[in-house]
Amino acid sequence: MQHFDTVVIGAGAAGLFCAGIAGQLGLSVLVVDHAAKVAEKIRISGGGRCNFTNRELDPRAPHRHFLGENPQFCRSALSRYTAQDFIALVQRHGIPFHEKHKGQLFGDRSSEDFIRMLLAECEAGGVTRWQPCAVREVGGVEGPGPARFRVATDRGEVTARHVVVATGGLSIPQIGATDFGWRLARQFGLPVVEPRPALVPLTFDGEGWKPYAQLAGLALPVRIATGTKKARTVFDEDLLFTHRGLSGPAVLQISSYWAPGQPIRMDLVPGVEVAQALADAKAAGARKQVANLLAQWMPTRLADAWAGRDPGLQRPVVECADKALSALAGTLADWEITPTGTEGWRKAEVTAGGVATSALSQQTLESRVAGLYFIGETVDITGWLGGYNFQWAWSSGYACAQAM
Ligand code: FDA
Repeated sequence: MQHFDTVVIGAGAAGLFCAGIAGQLGLSVLVVDHAAKVAEKIRISGGGRCNFTNRELDPRAPHRHFLGENPQFCRSALSRYTAQDFIALVQRHGIPFHEKHKGQLFGDRSSEDFIRMLLAECEAGGVTRWQPCAVREVGGVEGPGPARFRVATDRGEVTARHVVVATGGLSIPQIGATDFGWRLARQFGLPVVEPRPALVPLTFDGEGWKPYAQLAGLALPVRIATGTKKARTVFDEDLLFTHRGLSGPAVLQISSYWAPGQPIRMDLVPGVEVAQALADAKAAGARKQVANLLAQWMPTRLADAWAGRDPGLQRPVVECADKALSALAGTLADWEITPTGTEGWRKAEVTAGGVATSALSQQTLESRVAGLYFIGETVDITGWLGGYNFQWAWSSGYACAQAM
């Protein structure tokens, strides 16, 4: 039976990165992945350009960009392998990149550049990769000797001193996502925070959504919020109307914080004192139709739809009742609506929840079971949209590789 110092399960972002470093540190490493293609999520990430990290990430304040039962958990790993460290690696590999929005860094060419880089790092570390190859079982090994685990795979059994679980989350099941990591955690008696789709479009019941379905395809900047007055989360981002509900960066971000039954609230005219502006226009005797006035601040289709909801607003501003204008201003500045659900794993970018951080070391990502590590998205740490999830994959992979 072959023996490796380390078996990494999952050849995605975290697994490949960790394997390359561990190999370069002198460990014998086997990476096993059941998918035929390597790192499919990197390939499809960032619209095919991979938003590989974020310049605004502050490791001293992880709660600003990460969620989970204990967002402070990721501070240690993020401080020891920073966005700057990964940028330096990307530069060493000569991969051109650019900054887009709010510190988000993307490759200039294609996500393939990043996959090639990770594979080159694995090659430099002499890493063995078996793919496609399913892992059937992981069990403990009793007695003396270096082996602590026996790993049964489609290509036979191997033993290992360390097993690193990097099987990611459940989003996009059609490209090989599984709940393997959490099943393995439970098998070894480790707690798992119930996984749920995050960074995901929100949906509404068909009848209630009918008036908005005509707006599908419309995008606009909004301020979006959810939660209670005490614990409110707010984002300033773009909203996208879809046939079934709401999407776009604003909704993806807020979805990670949204709990079923809770409303979300949106200011559709951020930066405009719309109640005052409507009152001023009426006082000035404006003969413009309400929809035309609104179109100064928002897309015409949205202005038409909002003004069209009340027959009392289908007229020049000066002829509208104050009550109707103020109700209109209220729904524009604070539109409250309760989603009935999410688009689920099929459309989610990530999984919130995962192996409980209380069962892991924040320095090494080793679990309470000696030699068993969990990294990347399998862990109950979820980043914001914008490169934060990949940085967690790199940082947690690095912390783990250094510790073995
Ligand atoms: P990852 O999913 O990368 O890898 C897990 C690997 O484990 C896969 O190769 C899988 O085949 C394998 N596996 C699963 N079960 C297995 C089993 N039972 N046996 C063997 N192997 C198994 N993030 C970001 O920061 N910037 C971005 O631009 C994007 N864009 C983006 C777009 C889309 C469409 C999605 C779905 C996601 C993103 N993300 C993102 C999120 C990002 O892709 C994600 O957080 C990381 O890939 C997580 O890295 P992991 O290595 O943990 O899992």
